[in-house]
Formats: sequence, structure tokens, C-alpha cells
Amino acid sequence: MKFKDRKTFLRVREAVLPSMTEDTGNPNFIRQKRLLSIILAGLMAAVWMMLPAHIAAAETASGGENVLIVYYSRTGNTRAMANHVQAFTGGDIVELEPAEPYPAEYRATTEQAKKELEADFKPPLKVTVDDIAPYDVIFVGSPCWWGTFASPVRTFLSQHDFSGKKLVPFITHEGSGMGKSTEDLKSLCPQAVMFEGLAVRGREAENAKPQIEQWLKQMGMIRS
Ligand SMILES: Cc1cc2nc3c(=O)[nH]c(=O)nc-3n(C[C@H](O)[C@H](O)[C@H](O)COP(=O)(O)O)c2cc1C
Repeated sequence: MKFKDRKTFLRVREAVLPSMTEDTGNPNFIRQKRLLSIILAGLMAAVWMMLPAHIAAAETASGGENVLIVYYSRTGNTRAMANHVQAFTGGDIVELEPAEPYPAEYRATTEQAKKELEADFKPPLKVTVDDIAPYDVIFVGSPCWWGTFASPVRTFLSQHDFSGKKLVPFITHEGSGMGKSTEDLKSLCPQAVMFEGLAVRGREAENAKPQIEQWLKQMGMIRS
């Protein structure tokens, strides 16, 4: 812009400059300030909205879902498998403990377990999970007992409503594989979303890390 003379230039400068530099009540200045605060608020809201999702994805498995691993183990095989699952998913882990421990002797345990299954007896638990509400995905681990879940796991399954939860069974065994545990889980928890389970031979559980990783990867449940 050209000015007629220095006087005119100074008059124009006096009119414009205060509105750019200080809050004088000038409507130009107020409009600019409002615009700036709207842009700033929008930027801050966008950053705030992105933040929690980012943190959740880094902390937990499967896109921010809360994971629980619940299992029973009499001689340690299922515990080894559960620990691998925990390491890959980053979930909370709970080992179920019956109020009365099972006999140390194998045959005596198989006989007791058979009677419990036939009577649909659910042994009381000294250690269990009180509230599954915070969890989206629940891994349920058990040794194969007479082709299905061990009695303490049946107790746990009878203690909660699994509606809408993602249930993932895993089993250690000496030849039966999953047995009929998948079908039993479906009929015990009909409102749950069932995922394909994994069965590992008891003596191989400790070294089954690669197999467990592959299984979890297929389900998208490896911690990111
Ligand atoms: C009471 C009882 C019943 C069992 N029934 C079976 C069975 O039906 N099929 C099978 O393959 N293994 C069976 N087993 C073997 C266990 O499933 C296997 O040794 C498992 O890995 C033990 O896991 P743990 O060390 O976590 O207790 C049974 C073991 C016990 C004690």
C-alpha cells in the first residue's frame, strides 16, 4: 500500500497497530483473539482424545482389552503354560486353589476326581476370582481330568456370569488333547464368545512357548 505523505502513513499506523498488539477493546483484536482460542481449544481436544487410546494400546493386549488368565494346576504343567500366556498377553493371572488339596498320590486323585465329576460336585476354593467384570478376555487353563476341566476349574466356571466375555480355553493332557472341554465350556457359558483353545502335552508345556505364541498371534492377542 502506498501513502500520500508521511502524515497519512502515521495516521493509518495509529489506527491499525494497537489492534494487532494490545487488547484495547478494538473489535478487530477481539475477533482475532476469539479465533485463536477456538483453534487452540480444537488442537488441545484432538491431542487429549488421541492420548488415552494410545496409552491403552501400549499397556494391554488385543487393542486395549483387559486380559485375565485363570488356571488350576496340580503338578505344575498347566502353570507353565499359564505363565507363557501371561508373558505374551500381559494379563492378570490367578491360580485357583481348592480349600482341600488333592491327594499327592496320582491314583487316589483320579478316583476322587471321577467321583466329583459323576456327582457334578464343585469343590470349594480357597483362592478364586471374586469379580470378572473388569476383564474382556478370560483365558481358562486346566489339566485334562477325565476328558474335561479339572474340578476346581468347574467351580470357577459356575461362580460367574460370562455373558459377552471372550473365553479362551487351554489344556495340558497326556493324550486326550482338548477332550470335550470346548463343548463343556460352551454349554456352561452359553452367552460367552468362544475362542479356539490350545492343548499341549503336560511334559511339553514348559517348552511350548513358540506354539503358544503362534496360537495367540492368530487370535491377535499378543501384547503390542
Ligand atoms: C485326576 C486326573 C485325571 C486325568 N485325566 C486325564 C485324561 O482324561 N486325559 C489325559 O490325557 N490326561 C489325563 N490326566 C493327566 C493330566 O491331564 C496331565 O498330567 C496334566 O498335564 C497335569 O497338569 P498339571 O501338572 O497342571 O496338574 C489326568 C490326571 C489326573 C490327576
